[in-house]
Amino acid sequence: MDTIVARRIKIPWRRAVLSVDQFSKPDITDIFGTADRLAVSRTMPLGGKTIANLFYEPSTRTSSSFYAAMTKLGGNVIPINEVNYSSVSKGETLEDTVRTLECYADAIVLRHYDDDATERAFSVSSVPIINAGNGAGEHPTQALLDLYTIQREHGRIDGLTITMMGDLKYGRTVHSLSKLLRLYDVKLQFVAPDELRLPQEYRGDGDTEYSDLDDVIANTDILYVTRVQKERIPGAIDIDFNYAVTPEHMARARDDMALLHPMPRVGEISASLDSDPRSAYFRQMRYGLYVRMALLVAMLGGA
Ligand code: NCD
Repeated sequence: MDTIVARRIKIPWRRAVLSVDQFSKPDITDIFGTADRLAVSRTMPLGGKTIANLFYEPSTRTSSSFYAAMTKLGGNVIPINEVNYSSVSKGETLEDTVRTLECYADAIVLRHYDDDATERAFSVSSVPIINAGNGAGEHPTQALLDLYTIQREHGRIDGLTITMMGDLKYGRTVHSLSKLLRLYDVKLQFVAPDELRLPQEYRGDGDTEYSDLDDVIANTDILYVTRVQKERIPGAIDIDFNYAVTPEHMARARDDMALLHPMPRVGEISASLDSDPRSAYFRQMRYGLYVRMALLVAMLGGA
């Protein structure tokens, strides 16, 4: 285990969410239990608390779901969704921006294009940092909500065959989710072109790799699709990989398969599949709200 991972595991996730490495199976069970309760109850335990949303990269779902989660719990949000309108555009460092926001907020939700940004922010911050995506690194809160979606859709996680398809190299949601799934008894299958295969550090014994969804669609319980992360691929993009999920794939898939995507989609899943009851990507967003509410309650000292 490298030293960064070892150090991270020792940081309690209630203090800062940097990586999925910090979560144990009992932690996840607790968070999902809270999410189940918050999905049906109206409590506002975070009155008087404030989070800052600090986003150096575009976001629709992550920033607005943290915003909605915090305000539904009675708290407030400082939204810095477009850092170009903040002092970042004047050349302010990440460290100074974090030290500013900690004066006003009880936690900072940070998305940044650099892989080491969360660690840098954590090293100067006296308030919890929540990693909302660090470059091509991780996206731990997305992985938690993806896992919660799997649990809600199938009623269980153990015993499932999960296929991840798309940009497995640069997709941070895939990195976090594949690590989290290793806590469970699941079979992982990966479909990607050679240029976008899962990096070695995320691979496990027993995983299988394919180049074509046709080879695995029939035995898949969860199909997790991602877009090619064009903005992270150095140089010109010339990848010959046609990996849209088609009605023909769906016809061969199990009746209880669930189709997930962290979104945004850019052609991998056509809108014509939205009415298929197995398409779970909009429910996934809703589940994400409950998971982020559960995390905020646990971290900011609600119930
Ligand atoms: C993902 C991200 O930002 O990594 N989006 C999200 O948070 N739901 C996936 C992506 O951008 O492709």
